[in-house]
Amino acid sequence: MIKLPGLIDPHVHLREPGATHKEDYDTGTASALAGGVTMVLAMPNTKPPIFDQATLSAVLATAKTKARCDYAQYIGAGPENAAEVARLASQAAALKMYLDSTFGQLRLDDMTLWMEHFRLWPDATPIVTHSESRSMAAAIWMAQLFDKPIHIAHISLREEVLLIKEAKARGIKVTCEVCPHHLFLADGGIPLAPAGCDCCSGGLSGGRAEVRPRLATKADVDALWANLDVIDCFATDHAPHTLAEKDGENPPPGFPGLETLLPLLLTAVSEGRLTIDQIIEKSVTNPRRIFKLPEQPETWVEVDENARYEIRAAEMHSRCGWTPFEGWQVKGRVTRVVLRGQEAYKDGKILAEPGFGVNIRG
Ligand code: NCD
Ligand code: ZN
Repeated sequence: MIKLPGLIDPHVHLREPGATHKEDYDTGTASALAGGVTMVLAMPNTKPPIFDQATLSAVLATAKTKARCDYAQYIGAGPENAAEVARLASQAAALKMYLDSTFGQLRLDDMTLWMEHFRLWPDATPIVTHSESRSMAAAIWMAQLFDKPIHIAHISLREEVLLIKEAKARGIKVTCEVCPHHLFLADGGIPLAPAGCDCCSGGLSGGRAEVRPRLATKADVDALWANLDVIDCFATDHAPHTLAEKDGENPPPGFPGLETLLPLLLTAVSEGRLTIDQIIEKSVTNPRRIFKLPEQPETWVEVDENARYEIRAAEMHSRCGWTPFEGWQVKGRVTRVVLRGQEAYKDGKILAEPGFGVNIRG
């Protein structure tokens, strides 16, 4: 048995409000606990988006009664809310800016709109950008102009990790995260050996392979693994959509990820590609420092590092009912989670009640 600190996931979509048929604060935080995640930072691309005092207060009131693990809520950068979100900064996980096409209505195209946010957002927490490739470079440059910390969400490309490496070497205040699906799947949803099992080597079909940023080439995936020291955090970008939606017309992009994060990472540890210390650094120490999160006393995750099993959505707690890793053979199972002295998860059962979770910015 290995004992880990409770993991922090700085990037999850809980779909509250507006799409609770996909997930809500209850099922999403249950899914987190089952994955060994004891604190989540929830994204603001909801319906309506979380982008002012009224929407933030409303979602926090809901979260208070529903969350089973600890959490903070992001606020979203819109075209006209730079002053208002800056005033709300201490109540928010951080500011999220969508600069590239994604799911939801929050997207800023004109760079003068980005500028107002970089000017006004206080630098206690970073500005987190969904920015790919050249817009990532532009966002890092703007962060430097305004001397603000920037955190790049879900990097997926070789050019991104190499540019961030250069920026860090020059002292620019940039941090970044990578998602398990960009480490274990290539374009078309092809599993990358040795973690992928033979039975699912055909990849993912149609809408099930859709995610933003898109799954990349094997060369990109290799570059992420080769530059793990540049990557500050693991983040799931848990983005649940139902199977009917994924298999239907206009499938929305996104993968659930909370319950597969640790099994995949532990499998990589068993294969000698990753260490437990790297998991702790990228899923606990670094997110806590970057997002200024409090320690969770008497909180830990027990893992059976030798348990071999097959990933099955049917055993998961997310409401979305599927996983891109269905059928994968993994080694390493979360057996028990203790959160603030209370048993929160044990052997497949969620024991923390809705409302047990604490808003760490509350
Ligand atoms: C996310 C979602 O579904 O909310 N989808 C995705 O493919 N990652 C949106 C996002 O994280 O940009
Ligand atoms: Zn996301």
